[in-house]
Amino acid sequence: MKIGIIIHSNTGNTLTVGQRLEKELTARGHTAVIERVTSENDASEAANIVLDSKPDVDTYDMIILGAPVHAFSLSVVMMAYLEQLTSLSGKKVFCFVTQALPKPWLGGNRAIKTMKRLCAEKGAEPFNAGVVNWGSKQKETQIEDIVACACDIKP
Ligand SMILES: Cc1cc2nc3c(=O)[nH]c(=O)nc-3n(C[C@H](O)[C@H](O)[C@H](O)COP(=O)(O)O)c2cc1C
Repeated sequence: MKIGIIIHSNTGNTLTVGQRLEKELTARGHTAVIERVTSENDASEAANIVLDSKPDVDTYDMIILGAPVHAFSLSVVMMAYLEQLTSLSGKKVFCFVTQALPKPWLGGNRAIKTMKRLCAEKGAEPFNAGVVNWGSKQKETQIEDIVACACDIKP
């Protein structure tokens, strides 16, 4: 499968997980490509974000979306990206977020819920999701679970 790993990452944590996914998916024979979502500005609302990089998802069979938790919710840059996407119809979508706080209920779960809703609004059926708590002892296990889950998906 051709898999797009679409990442918003300011300080590199989410990108690190994306790189793990890229490596493992490539090792299993997939074509995995990381593409970054970036913004020109730093607005607090998705409607005011100006994206300077908006990866095109059309050529991918499967999409992995990764973003940080900001202010107990999904980063507004990823929100803006998903709101501006034309369609995710027919795409398998796997979502993950990274957060500093040690428990998923401190923003991670809410961010995933928002990601899934925005994907569903664009016609995708998100098949699974994961939260990485960067400040938790479980961090490595959480990353391994996300990688295993994404690698397990069948065309
Ligand atoms: C503006 C801002 C708000 C944040 N809000 C939260 C939060 O509500 N909960 C949390 O657990 N972490 C929060 N964090 C921490 C990030 O989610 C965490 O460090 C994440 O792994 C960063 O990902 P990145 O390195 O890919 O940018 C916040 C970070 C920033 C910069």
